[in-house]
Amino acid sequence: MERKWWHGKVAYQIYPKSFCDSNGDGIGDLRGIISKLDYLKELGVDIVWLSPIYCSPLADQGYDISDYYNIDPRFGTMDDMDELLAEAKKRNISILMDLVVNHCSDEHEWFKKACEDPDGKYGKYFYIEDIRDGKLPCNWRSYFGGSVWEPLPGHPDKCYLHLFHKKQPDLNWENPELREEVYKMVNWWLDKGLGGFRIDAIINIKKVLPWKDYPVDRSDGLSAIQNMLAEATGIGDFLRELRDRCFTPHHAFTAGEVFNEKPGELPDFIGDDGYFSTMYDFNESSFGAGPHGWYDSVQITPDDYRRCCFESQKKVGNIGFLSNIIENHDQPRGVSHYLLDEDRCDAAKKLLATMNVMLRGLPFLYQGQELGMENTAFHSIDEVDDISTLDQYKVALQDGLTPEKALAAVARHSRDNARTPFQWSAAAHAGFTSGEPWLRENPNYRTLNLEAQREDPDSVYQYYRKLLRLRKDPAYAETIVYGDLIPVWEDRRNLMAYYRKSDTQTLLVAGNWQREPQTISLEHGFQKVLLNNLDSIDTDGNEITLKGYQSLILEL
Ligand code: GLC
Ligand code: CA
Repeated sequence: MERKWWHGKVAYQIYPKSFCDSNGDGIGDLRGIISKLDYLKELGVDIVWLSPIYCSPLADQGYDISDYYNIDPRFGTMDDMDELLAEAKKRNISILMDLVVNHCSDEHEWFKKACEDPDGKYGKYFYIEDIRDGKLPCNWRSYFGGSVWEPLPGHPDKCYLHLFHKKQPDLNWENPELREEVYKMVNWWLDKGLGGFRIDAIINIKKVLPWKDYPVDRSDGLSAIQNMLAEATGIGDFLRELRDRCFTPHHAFTAGEVFNEKPGELPDFIGDDGYFSTMYDFNESSFGAGPHGWYDSVQITPDDYRRCCFESQKKVGNIGFLSNIIENHDQPRGVSHYLLDEDRCDAAKKLLATMNVMLRGLPFLYQGQELGMENTAFHSIDEVDDISTLDQYKVALQDGLTPEKALAAVARHSRDNARTPFQWSAAAHAGFTSGEPWLRENPNYRTLNLEAQREDPDSVYQYYRKLLRLRKDPAYAETIVYGDLIPVWEDRRNLMAYYRKSDTQTLLVAGNWQREPQTISLEHGFQKVLLNNLDSIDTDGNEITLKGYQSLILEL
């Protein structure tokens, strides 16, 4: 594997709408982000991905772009963006934007023109078909529920494809003219000095054509997109072109949102000459997904988590670098999802951090993760903003759950859990805004906030800083960044442990994922404790008794 400049770095996702509001309108913005660059530096961040800030009706919070060349006024101006790039550069921080090109917004001028003239140039930028005898071209279910087909405005006899929301019409990548538009736009941003992109929903750009039905898999009579994607071939032609025309000439850093790569395809995606620099590991977060929806998902256990991590590590081997995440803007908070309600203490949060950050790969944090921010409480479905949660609620009701049960089930998975305002301080609205936040803050901000954690040497925040610093410590970086990962004691329950091993050094990362203590035995003892999430360590000869939720990083 070729070594790359970013392998030893730390990446961080900002969800701009909820990060920091500079002007009191309740919406986070670019000037807010600029004001927090020093904070990101203090935490130890080198690469920052911004979720979309382009012009958008915000039907899917910016993942529906109506103008790729402009900043939405709610987030700021192009001058603010230029200033952000310049200020980040001063601090050696590289900025990534979100590249959302599987679809645009139905308010994009391309789509408006397509509606005016479906057979013209812009009609071919999309997938527009005739509705014949009332029948839609195929039975795929959109990710946000319902058919992927929607009547084309002004043309009741025609329909357009949207794999996501109906306000997100899919762009037709089979059309070379459309691809040229995309490359032009990507290069325009990279020429501006952008470090690269996180690449949204990219696996969806290749469809199986001609349209056909797949087996019905839910009571709505439709079939999941995944059934189609499993059969789709040839995405590599598009991705290679995108790489060669845009990313490679600019030395851009790219992180792909890839869910459904096929066995054996990993080198194509993230090998030395891959389509992307890296892609996210979703093995843990997708574990337990319910066949019918969020409501029948299975709770992940510590042993499942361990297995998922090790599976991914084994799969990627020395091919390249996965990006390791605990959460993102599409998922509930990791500390709520992976830890038991009754055990969600700071030690457990730090254990989860240790297990994830010490894996081989790029640690990719999500805003607030470094504080151990938790899921919020939903008292009624009216408090929910996210379209995906609203759809899942409907699905749960349709399948017979009571409204209370449906709400409880979707609340555990809601994307809004990750989208509540960043908890800066105990001041009103968590110090996020001087106005009314667009989404209600998590009431626990009064005690769980950065200001408090900054002053507390034992806080989750200070622990994250230590962890990230350790990754960069010249005495250990070679082993932590490039060393092999060797699982150990995989047959033990609620114990996650692995070696990180280079030619000259072996580290042991071990976490006791339960309240009761458990003992591990080291053949030759250890030399040094590099990090301990509790204040002491119980040793007896070569035996160590890990206390409840204790995690250790030892130099052997
Ligand atoms: C990705 C984004 C998600 C969005 C979807 C459609 O999965 O992360 O937030 O809803 O793509 O763009
Ligand atoms: Ca604002």
